[in-house]
Order: sequence, then C-alpha cells, then structure tokens
Amino acid sequence: MPTLAVIGTQWGDEGKGKVVDYLAGEADVVVRFQGGNNAGHSVKIGEELFKLHHLPSGILRPGKLAVIGNGVVIDPGVILKEIEDIQARGKGADNLRISDRAHVIMPYHKLLDGAEERLREGAKVGTTGRGIGPAYADKAARLGVRMGELVDEPLLRNRMDFLVPLKNKMLEALGSDQRVDGKKAFEDYAGYGRSLKPFITDTGSMISEALSKGRKVLFEGAQGTMLDIDHGTYPYVTSSSTISANAAAGAGIPPTAMGAIIGVVKAYTTRVGAGPLPTELHDETGERIAEKGGEFGTTTGRTRRCGWLDLAVLRYSHSLNGFTGLALTKVDVLGGLDEVKVCTHYTVDGKRLSSFPPDMRTLERVVPVYRSFDGWDDLEPARLEDFLNGGLARLPRSMRYYVGFLEKEIGVPVHLLGLGRRRSELLDLRRERW
Ligand code: GDP
Ligand code: IMO
Ligand code: MG
Repeated sequence: MPTLAVIGTQWGDEGKGKVVDYLAGEADVVVRFQGGNNAGHSVKIGEELFKLHHLPSGILRPGKLAVIGNGVVIDPGVILKEIEDIQARGKGADNLRISDRAHVIMPYHKLLDGAEERLREGAKVGTTGRGIGPAYADKAARLGVRMGELVDEPLLRNRMDFLVPLKNKMLEALGSDQRVDGKKAFEDYAGYGRSLKPFITDTGSMISEALSKGRKVLFEGAQGTMLDIDHGTYPYVTSSSTISANAAAGAGIPPTAMGAIIGVVKAYTTRVGAGPLPTELHDETGERIAEKGGEFGTTTGRTRRCGWLDLAVLRYSHSLNGFTGLALTKVDVLGGLDEVKVCTHYTVDGKRLSSFPPDMRTLERVVPVYRSFDGWDDLEPARLEDFLNGGLARLPRSMRYYVGFLEKEIGVPVHLLGLGRRRSELLDLRRERW
C-alpha cells in the first residue's frame, strides 16, 4: 500500500511523533492533516530532542517532503519561529509545503479561547489556549482566513478590516478586557504572509501526483481518537476530526487512496486537561508512572493524568479507525512494577457495557473491571541493544504475555514496540517493511 496513517488511539501523547519519525525513514512524503499547534510531538534522535508543534515529524529527515494539509489550522508566527529553531539546529525547511487552503489562527482566536474558557465555570475543557477551537469554529462559520489569503495583502486587509472589529465586539460581549489592535495585527500578519509565501501551495494536488508516481505517503495524526470532535469524550475534546477517515479529507485525496493504518497505543493511559478518565490512578503508582514516563505536556508543560491501559477505549478506537497494526509505546515505563493492570471492560449499575458510552454522565459513572498481570523488571540500558537485536523472544516473558493479550483482545497485531525515547529504541516486529 502506498499510504500509511499513524493515529493516536487514546487522549493524545501516545508517542505519534516518535513512530512517525521512525516510519518516515521509509516514506517519501509526510503529511499533517488536522489540528494545529495544540499538538506537541517529541522526537529524540541520539541525544538530541526535538519538540514539534506545527511541523510534521518528517521535517527531521532530509529529502522527505513535509506537508501541512488543508485540514490543519496554523499560527503563522509560531510556525515561523519553529522553522527558525530547527534551521538553527542544522535541519533545513526547504522540504516544507503548506496548503493554501489551511486556515490561519488569528490573534483574536487566542484571546477568544481564553475568554470562552473563563466563562465555562465548572465545565472547563482545559484547552491548550492556542486558539484552536475558535479557529475551527470560524472555518465552519465561513469567517476564516486561509493561508492563500494571508499572502494576498489587499485581500488580507479587506478581511481583517471586517473581522477584527467584529471579534473585538465578541471579546467585549464575553467580558474580556483584551482587544486586538487592528493596525498592528495586519502589519504582523502581512509580514508573516511574506515570510511564508515560498512554502504555500496547492498541497492536495502535490500529494495526488506523488501517489500517482508510486511514492509513499505517511500521514501524521495529532491528538487522539478520544479527543475527536465527533467520537471523542465531547465536550472534553479538541475541535478537529482526529480519526483515520479524516486523513484523506484533511490532505485532499480520495479515501480510496488510503492504505495501512497504525494505531499508536501507550502502554498505559494519559490525559491532559479536563474530562473523564475511567482508569485514572490517584495513588503512588499513578505518580510513579507520571514521573518515570516524563508525563508533562510537550505543549503546555501541564502534568498528564495517568491510569491503566483501557481496552474499552482501544476497542472503540479500533472500531472507528480500522487499524491494520499497532505501535505499542512506553512499555519500558511500566518496568519495575510488581503488578500491571488492564481494564477489560466497564460496568454501570452492575451491568457490563457493550459499547462506549456517548454521554459524559455515564462515562463518569462507569466502573472499570481490571485484569491483573505480573510486572517485568526494568530493561537495563546495557541489555537494551540485546533486546532490540534479539526481537520479541529476548523480552521478559511477562511483557510478551502483556503484548500478546493486547493483540488478542483488540484483534490487531503489534507492529512496533517502544522500549525507550530514542529513534533507535523501537522494536520492529513487522513481517514486511512498508
Ligand atoms: P505525541 O504527541 O503522540 O507525539 O507524543 P508526545 O511526544 O507528546 O509524548 C510522548 C512522550 O513519550 C515523548 O516525550 C516521547 O519522547 C516519549 N516516548 C515515545 N515513545 C516512547 C517509548 O517507547 N518509551 C519511552 N520511555 N518514552 C517514549
Ligand atoms: P498531541 O498531538 C494531548 C487536549 C487539551 C484539552 C483539549 C482541547 O501532542 O497528542 P484544544 O487546545 O485542542 O482546544 O484543547 O484537547 N489536547 C491534547 N492533549 N495531546 C495533544 O496533542 C492535545 N491537543 C489538545 O489538553 O483537554
Ligand atoms: Mg503530544
């Protein structure tokens, strides 16, 4: 299959960046298709750590085309800074292309994000504050500004002359004392447009052409399935469609062009921000996992809530995404625990739930039923090489059992196994390369 999509199965931060960076070695094109700089994808190559928010993880591989598709929302000041930062670290951005149809995060979107959150007393989403929700809302309301307009100064002026006063009135109505200075905002954004112009193009037709030439296209999902605007834990979700079906629409190619779909599963569950997390741990084990797994947000630095792996979530995620393989990450983080638990299903009022509940009142009431597994020892750094070269057979028996149980329960094979943060610390169990 010429395409491969990498999708978060849980609430984000599963390790998509690392998996994409690894698979990008086999790809010709890497495409982001939704989300914005609410994403934070960490990639560790040797001792070097890269934290990417806007740029596709493929940017770190010279010679690969890195594309930001039409389904993404872009903060132009932030992406320019990110480009400068990676250039300063010796990585080029000549291979970057940005869709002319992608929407622009405007200064008022960030102010509105904060103002709306402040009003949602008792029901805060805990957004990243990056203006994502208001930018997607304006796209749907046909009040958005697209990247193609950002580079057309007279058109941009026209749009901003109408939009800035309108949004300032909304800020006032929401009780915010912040306002956007229209003149300064126009100067800033026109400048961003001039700097970004060389990257902006019709990326959909570029991807189609690459596919027609038999090139391999890798899709990099952001956020996770449970944060999907339709299927996630609404309203505690992000504002885009995070599932595999949106990879085609968010890149501008037909769904018939899509091939394999890898679901990235963290060996436990984390969530940043508000909303139900049925397997959440409020004890020392949870703290220990957060500490050892470095579970602090790549984007906002907030501590991620941690819990046991949840098969109710993963089955639901598979039913929405149609995974052909899984990438199981951070198995090493569970090392050293005597016991590892997995939620096999939920009950409500003593009855087993057969499908994932759509409403948060039910999800807050579910009782997770656990199965317990023997833990495994920490993977000693000195033996890691041995594990990575020796394949599954060299891994601790209880870890293999855990992996096998998961494969059987979800009904999808584990293709990649994450045993550490670095690009090299990934066990590739695929029978065939992509
Ligand atoms: P993403 O948003 O899905 O790309 O994930 P993040 O990068 O936000 O968070 C995942 C974190 O786990 C990052 O700090 C990664 O460097 C790290 N990571 C990824 N895979 C592994 C793994 O297999 N083992 C360990 N120990 N860390 C990992
Ligand atoms: P990656 O790509 C984890 C969460 C926020 C908040 C909710 C809505 O790194 O996996 P938003 O700013 O999108 O309106 O916030 O979604 N959220 C993420 N959580 N990983 C992410 O991205 C996230 N992007 C958004 O914490 O709860
Ligand atoms: Mg992240």
